[in-house]
Amino acid sequence: MLYIGVDLGTSAVKLLLMDEKGAIHKIVSREYPLYFPNPGWSEQRPEDWFLQTMAGLKELVGECDRSQVAGIGFGGQMHGLVILDEEDRVIRPAILWNDGRTGEETDYLNQVIGKDKLSAYTANIAFAGFTAPKLLWVKNKEPENFAAIRKIMLPKDYLAYRLSGVHCTDVSDASGMLLFDVKNRCWSEEMCEICGVRKEQLAKIYESYEVVGTLLPEIAKELGLPAGVKVIAGAGDNAAAAVGTGTVGDGMCNISLGTSGTVFISSESFRVDEHNALHAFAHADGRYHLMGCMLSAASCNKWWMDDILGTQDYAKEQEEIAQLGRNHVFFLPYLMGERSPHNNPNARGTFIGMTMDTTRADMTQAVLEGVAFALRDSFEVAKALGIRIERTKICGGGAKSPLWRTIIANVLGIRVEMIESEEGPGYGGAILAAVGCGEFKDVDEAAAKLVKVVGCVEPTKELTARYEERYQQFRQIYPACRELFDKIQ
Ligand code: XUL
Repeated sequence: MLYIGVDLGTSAVKLLLMDEKGAIHKIVSREYPLYFPNPGWSEQRPEDWFLQTMAGLKELVGECDRSQVAGIGFGGQMHGLVILDEEDRVIRPAILWNDGRTGEETDYLNQVIGKDKLSAYTANIAFAGFTAPKLLWVKNKEPENFAAIRKIMLPKDYLAYRLSGVHCTDVSDASGMLLFDVKNRCWSEEMCEICGVRKEQLAKIYESYEVVGTLLPEIAKELGLPAGVKVIAGAGDNAAAAVGTGTVGDGMCNISLGTSGTVFISSESFRVDEHNALHAFAHADGRYHLMGCMLSAASCNKWWMDDILGTQDYAKEQEEIAQLGRNHVFFLPYLMGERSPHNNPNARGTFIGMTMDTTRADMTQAVLEGVAFALRDSFEVAKALGIRIERTKICGGGAKSPLWRTIIANVLGIRVEMIESEEGPGYGGAILAAVGCGEFKDVDEAAAKLVKVVGCVEPTKELTARYEERYQQFRQIYPACRELFDKIQ
């Protein structure tokens, strides 16, 4: 049988076709625009997601034996707010996970309602990118839009809705809304009341591997697929990527180097870090996870290469980098503010330490290292919780760079493992579809059978020691700039 994985990303939707042995038959990618209508704002049009997904699906299944397609599963950018009116029309563009407009609403939730209450209700505190502060922003700034809301959904759930007609979500993605009681895997009555949300506006909750329905007849016809193709709930992109890299069960780690950068730690049981610096979310394997999320990771390098240096040849720029661990330039990667661990939408990207002999390569190196140091910040929080991590999987566009993998292995001081398929969330989405269709007993069995480690980077003693020294310097820069970041807004 064949399974489709859809990764609804921030720059593009990536679709893949996988068979029951885990072999990928085809990958298709379709881009759509990202809008920044104000500094720190970030929006997309749900209709673009749908149109590009449909075009991508047609291309994906164009040449295969379509009668073999059994299911479709998703991994999607998390936290985005999609609101529909009573005619099922999208009310306004989706407000995305890396949008920083909700400073006031986030402060209200954390300070007036209080972090203790939020953590007790949801296992998390408010971060600017989470969905509940966005809803409060619409309520405060666009009351007519708020009054028109009939359905509230997350990005990938909008696709599932258009494909199956079912208003659904899954536990991992719902976790990032701050409306969800993560421990008990249900909507939080208290949070709904605080945000003025009625339960009937929210989706029905599924485990990530559960079937929510089948393709609508008109969609199946348009795609030339059998009527019975199952639609599986899927997961937030990080949980889906974790499935796609075999990060399931207890104490496994995955680093995703995409537009965002995440450190994802799977956990057998529910746990919360006492300062809520890491997100405590439900996992797509039926259990839980902790996660640190930085808002700009591979996107920092993309910005530096495409927009500033004006080059597409990333590998050539990286070849010029002479010596790891000895750079005198530092870079704070906060181009969209920062989530973990600073929770500060006003934080900004910063280069510091340049001299007259600083080269272009030093600056490129500083960007790659700055992202690795910021990942280490989340890693340190996990260590403080007593979690011991000795190795991690890695996925996402940035993970294709051998140099960046080496930097990360040595900044974190752990072994970094590469997976045969780098298509983290899409592969995870297809695996969840295979589980939902009964191909495997559960997510653990599917991941154990399908995910293959094909290489690794070991840290060296010398480089780890050099990076340790530089990390201790790096972590002093943000506190020194923090007040200034607020003033230069
Ligand atoms: C996770 C997060 C990002 C997005 C990126 O909390 O906000 O990783 O899911 O798509």
